[in-house]
Amino acid sequence: MSVAKKQYKRITTKSLVDMKSNGEKISMLTAYDFTMAQIVDGAGIDVILVGDSASNVMAGHETTLPITLDQMIYHATSVVRAINRALVVVDLPFGSYQSDPKEALRSAIRIMKESGGHAVKLEGGKEVKESIKRIMHAGIPVMGHLGLTPQSIYKFGTYTVRAKEEQEAEKLKADALMLEKIGCFAIVLEKVPAKLAKEVAASLTIPVIGIGAGNGVDGQVLVVHDMLGMTHEFNPRFLRRYADLHGEMTKAFQNYRDDVKSSAFPSDDEQY
Ligand code: KIV
Repeated sequence: MSVAKKQYKRITTKSLVDMKSNGEKISMLTAYDFTMAQIVDGAGIDVILVGDSASNVMAGHETTLPITLDQMIYHATSVVRAINRALVVVDLPFGSYQSDPKEALRSAIRIMKESGGHAVKLEGGKEVKESIKRIMHAGIPVMGHLGLTPQSIYKFGTYTVRAKEEQEAEKLKADALMLEKIGCFAIVLEKVPAKLAKEVAASLTIPVIGIGAGNGVDGQVLVVHDMLGMTHEFNPRFLRRYADLHGEMTKAFQNYRDDVKSSAFPSDDEQY
């Protein structure tokens, strides 16, 4: 059952702000390739994130750090070809925006020009303020990302919940206000206490989209491979699995293997 309050033919950054003011929650999932993006878009998901989590789930790296700008553009290009309705947001990968605002702008322009994505996302608060402003001055919409920022995993040392302590929570609140003030159209809040996330969402007019941030925010995002149950060894508390594709796919592959070995496949009807 759909609980959309208004039908949107195409989702824009403005639609998301409208959804927040109309009290309609925003659905967001990752996708990294054409076929998955076509299914996600066809199902009516509002935002598709070409996340740098592609580094983990597509390439098998332990962290998001190794993925390159060229690789992100490759994934984003495949996703954009599949889309009819969703807003496509593309992550700026580690190393493509941290050194200076000009480099950040060059990277964002490459993503927009070469992939056809609709917006970029980058991690951090006041440390990346000038880069975000520079990108937005070029007319490129920016989604912020606060809380657990996986590109800083070697600084944190762990993927545990962030901003449990007062000082970090205060910084997060100040960063969120700053991101809204300079013009970000939305913020992802990852793995922070639900009470804090709710407070941040209530203090902003732009939508806050949570992952592991509770139900008091304006929308939710999950990594598509996780919610489909393909990555069955990843079990954080916030993850709800909507399918067991690991199990389904394993069964299908085993059945196929058995059919090939026993010559049950192909049958007479499956040949020319
Ligand atoms: O890269 C990603 O998938 C993300 C989400 C976890 C928000 O940034």
